[in-house]
Amino acid sequence: MPCLTFRTWVLGIVSCAILSFLNQFFTYRQNALSISSVSAQILVLPAGKLMAAYLPRKSIQIPATKWSFSLNPGPFNMKEHVLITIFANSGSNTVYPVNIVTIVKAFYGRGINLIAAMMLSQSTQMLGYGWAGIFRRFLVDSPYMWWPSNLVQVSLFQALHDVEVRPKRGQTRLQFFFLVFISSFAYYIVPNYLFPSITALSFVCWIWKDSVTAQITGSDRHGLGIGSFALDWSTVSSFLLSPLATPCFAIVNTMVGFFIVIYILIPTAYWTNSYDARKFPIISSHVFASDGSRYNVTRVMNQSTFEFNLHGYDSYGKINLSIFFIYTCGLSFGTLTATKSHVALFYGRHLDKFNNVHTRLIKKNYEAVPQWWFHALLMIVIGLSILTCEGFGGQLLLPYWGVILAALLAMLFTLPIGVITATTNQVSDRLTAKLCLRNECLTC
Ligand SMILES: *[C@@H]1O[C@H](CO)[C@@H](O)[C@H](O)[C@H]1NC(C)=O
Repeated sequence: MPCLTFRTWVLGIVSCAILSFLNQFFTYRQNALSISSVSAQILVLPAGKLMAAYLPRKSIQIPATKWSFSLNPGPFNMKEHVLITIFANSGSNTVYPVNIVTIVKAFYGRGINLIAAMMLSQSTQMLGYGWAGIFRRFLVDSPYMWWPSNLVQVSLFQALHDVEVRPKRGQTRLQFFFLVFISSFAYYIVPNYLFPSITALSFVCWIWKDSVTAQITGSDRHGLGIGSFALDWSTVSSFLLSPLATPCFAIVNTMVGFFIVIYILIPTAYWTNSYDARKFPIISSHVFASDGSRYNVTRVMNQSTFEFNLHGYDSYGKINLSIFFIYTCGLSFGTLTATKSHVALFYGRHLDKFNNVHTRLIKKNYEAVPQWWFHALLMIVIGLSILTCEGFGGQLLLPYWGVILAALLAMLFTLPIGVITATTNQVSDRLTAKLCLRNECLTC
């Protein structure tokens, strides 16, 4: 089957660009919404089939080279479809350093050089491909790393491409898929577009309208959300990526953690007033001065150099956080460290065993991407990162050794975090989000 075709490049690049725009755009929503590559997987199928039906078959010569390609090399096949979805998937995550740009602009009220921002985002994103190649042996070749959400996508590819005979009084998998697709779309429109207030119904707040305690316990937005009821799937499932793709033990684990943190730890800490918790809102991502007002960041920043002003800090007082944010930060550092011991204890023995029949078959039939590509990419991108940080008049305030330190940290944590994602479908930067209620996903 041909796979790197004209269709693949066009649809792949377009869907990557659209997904990355939409996902970045939607992260600014209060109830963050993400569009996964599954959407692209569904939408490019008719586009690919249309291109196969209408584009001319004649081959096009690239001027001054021996290469030629055809606009239409035959029916739209599964390999092209998978490859387009991989393209789309590489754009389906939000770009982490864009948060830096947002924070600098919105929180500190400063501008940032457009090219510096662009280089920062690109180089940080590209670093990931380097790490991926370096850990490919452990994270891809090993049969123990089964990447649960990929299985969901594989079965969808099969449903979309397999020719199936409809069973009597039943549907084919494709028909069943479209039935669910259309009904869930029809339902999703109601809470998310027509009637957003039913995304969560906080009965406790409705009954005791003026009670602060009721707001803290019952509010879905600013409290613990006890007794609050959601009619919106994205709200219900927001503590997991996709409940369908997550193994049961991981769901139960997450729920137990959620229960302990939200229903036991946070309320106990709040009502025993630890860290002066009762002066501040129970759930908030803001920083506060000791009198409970919003912390005035300009007082501890040197506005011209954008550096920390110790003198101002000493005279103004320390930063306070909401009790929820305190535990989110603390526990995030805890979970990050725990990934290492967890992976060592649970997967240590399996990590270098990849002599599996599927791996062998793939190795026999397909040539692997040479390892030096990844090493070269990594070196180039680390070089570019250093250039970005040291250049632009030192605007990014990170010296070259900071970049190297960051790269070393990434090297230490990519494997354990990758193993956890590959076996439980939990993404590490979601470990933080996990702890938050749906509206305020705090990043520490
Ligand atoms: C914050 O502090 C700066 C500098 O002291 C002052 O000019 C500004 O008015 C303060 N802003 C608020 C909201 O209090």
